[in-house]
Amino acid sequence: MSKHRVGIEALAVALPERYVELEDLAKARGVDPAKYTTGLGGKQMAVTDPGEDSVALAANAVGALLRATGQDPGQLGMLAVGTESGVDHAKPVASYVHGLHGLPRAMRTFDIQHACYGGTAGLMAAAEWIASGAAAGRKALVVCADVARYELLGPGEPTQGGAAVALLVSDTPDLLALDLGISGAATQHVHDFWRPSGRREALVDGHYSVKCYLEALGEAYRGWRQRALERELVRPGPTLPSEQLARLLFHVPFCKMAKKAYAHLRQVDLELAAGAPLSAEALAKESAALEAKLAGQVGSSLWLNARVGNAYTASLYLALAGLLETEASALAGQRLGLFSYGSGYCSELFSGVVGERAAARIAAAGLEELLARRERVDVAEYERLYRLAADAPEARAPRPGMFRFTGIDSEGRRQYAAG
Ligand code: COA
Repeated sequence: MSKHRVGIEALAVALPERYVELEDLAKARGVDPAKYTTGLGGKQMAVTDPGEDSVALAANAVGALLRATGQDPGQLGMLAVGTESGVDHAKPVASYVHGLHGLPRAMRTFDIQHACYGGTAGLMAAAEWIASGAAAGRKALVVCADVARYELLGPGEPTQGGAAVALLVSDTPDLLALDLGISGAATQHVHDFWRPSGRREALVDGHYSVKCYLEALGEAYRGWRQRALERELVRPGPTLPSEQLARLLFHVPFCKMAKKAYAHLRQVDLELAAGAPLSAEALAKESAALEAKLAGQVGSSLWLNARVGNAYTASLYLALAGLLETEASALAGQRLGLFSYGSGYCSELFSGVVGERAAARIAAAGLEELLARRERVDVAEYERLYRLAADAPEARAPRPGMFRFTGIDSEGRRQYAAG
């Protein structure tokens, strides 16, 4: 494991200005609301218009981060945006964000695309850049920004949403010091979810994507577990290695996925400890105890995801924000496990230790205030916004300090307004 303390110093969140209640959506679709709330685990779903594209969301999160931290932009050396909602085949979202904030010219700026995994790839690239010494004291901005969009009336419809999370990555990891060199990764070329160029809606084989997610989780966890045991971050014995993690955070395309993931991870861990598949009796015992264990190790990380919906690359980091908002003080000094999954697929299970200043850092993100200032819309309004052409944003003034996409000029260049 790297001797350097590197990780997330601070984070900020940008949320779309509007949301729809999933109960309203279920009623409009003639579906039992319990399917969306209990079956998928959601409450609300963020609603965007084309003015809140991935650039605007990313720029808004970066603006919030710079304001909350007072970070000197001159100390930044890298801006990486993880997104699968890119707006141009050549010009990255990061380039727009760099320009909108007038960031220093002596910086690397780039996007990383691998479905919902891109933000984690950016975080690892930034952390390892700093740990290697190449950063020479500079910090990185890593932004996870996405709009999750599936076909109206399709099975993916209640699992849409959108958000951006900006991470300040440095050698002062007040929020989370990463265990560099310990993570486990798993990759495979599959078609569980994809979005051919030019399409606005993802194509997805939903149930297959759940299967792929779980398979990737098992493989990535095995990699992390082996290295964590070798480096004595966790120890063999009656307490499972995964139980030695204070909390487990998962990529959350819909909240119920975290429950499926947790159950699968425990089964993998129990079978590795036993050296054999679990008997039917052991599985039944495990299943009976699952809800209580889930509530303790995962439950407090899901409330923010339940109110935003899917945010692709940002979902895992919304879970981190939600967890720290609820439990940062109690978790200071304790180790978390985080699982990132991007369809296609690439995944990584990594860990980190919550910093002593995490409570103050997350308070500065003002999550409750962000949620409180959103506007609830009905299903008719959600559908109207959904149907707007991608290059035809609503004429709506950006809030002070925020950005909106306003249209495309005659040369095909995207335009943004600042509030
Ligand atoms: N009350 C309570 N629960 C209900 C219910 C009701 N009336 N009706 C259904 N449910 C439950 C189901 O039992 C199921 O739970 P389970 O998975 O624990 O068995 C859950 O609600 C979903 O129902 P299901 O019939 O499987 O939903 P679906 O076929 O419409 O699609 C997804 C669900 C997730 C596959 C779909 O929303 C999708 O494709 N989403 C996008 C892809 C995605 O998010 N993939 C995740 C990995 S990246």
